[in-house]
Amino acid sequence: MSDIFSSISDADAHSFASRPLILRHNLHESGLFDDGALARLIEATPRDRFHINTIPRDVNDPRQWREGDMSGLPGQAVLEAVAKGNIWVHLQRIQEADAAYGELLNQAFDELERKIPGFKSFKRSMSVLVSSPRMNVAYHADVPGQSLWQIRGRKRVWIYPARAPFLPQQAIENIVLKRSGDTDFTFDPRFDESADVFDLSPGDMASWPQNCPHRVVNEDCVNVSVTMEHWNADLRATYAVNYANGLLRPHVGRRPLSQATSGPAFWAKFALAGAHKMLRVGKARALPLKVDFRVDPTSQSGFSDIEPYLVLK
Ligand SMILES: [Fe+2]
Repeated sequence: MSDIFSSISDADAHSFASRPLILRHNLHESGLFDDGALARLIEATPRDRFHINTIPRDVNDPRQWREGDMSGLPGQAVLEAVAKGNIWVHLQRIQEADAAYGELLNQAFDELERKIPGFKSFKRSMSVLVSSPRMNVAYHADVPGQSLWQIRGRKRVWIYPARAPFLPQQAIENIVLKRSGDTDFTFDPRFDESADVFDLSPGDMASWPQNCPHRVVNEDCVNVSVTMEHWNADLRATYAVNYANGLLRPHVGRRPLSQATSGPAFWAKFALAGAHKMLRVGKARALPLKVDFRVDPTSQSGFSDIEPYLVLK
């Protein structure tokens, strides 16, 4: 099997996961992301593994990000709604829907581990994003290690530092603890002065440090992108610190807490987070999401409003 990545420079290999950067890949040539394959994936993805979202194109308040549904619709109808409307289709854990994606996922990470000294990954996962022309993806922060792979279309991504004011400590603590969603914090257009900005074309893969908030705007064309998630010891340490800080937060108010991932205080937090997670097992928290629209290929926006209801995700 040929390599997924073009050669990775020593500078990029050295900086991987510590600063935003672009690598070149050939996933867009795999045939696994043409319309027929995407329609099959849409139909094979159960309700607990997809998000459909929308937000007006001129709104940059991430809290206006809306959640929808597409259950029961043919994949082709969903693709038609994406092409004409303003929606974002996010299919998660596609490696579980078809082993071919699982092979691609493992090949990608195995290759990164070979080409980037010291890089390790576990709990790998792969999503596909199919989104409308000029779609505006709300400012948000993800919890695991993340990369964004452009397959079809073109988009601009803004990547911001994973620290206040871009990402207040309480925001990432609440996201990690599932007290709030990943868009539940404030965006200020002045943040753009501190962003790394990349224009992605097919064959580009953007990578950034853990938790860096980001937002995306598509060019005037349908976009197909892949995201890959992973964990490793460094990512888990940061997760544990934010998790424990979130548990301590009600007792300390708004003051900054250390986010160090070494030393005795870190290990105390690591133990606290582990014990709390163990106690939570079996009653794992799910976040209630309000669903208030349904994909509708007959509508100009690609969706129709419905009577709101809650789902647990
Ligand atoms: Fe993201």
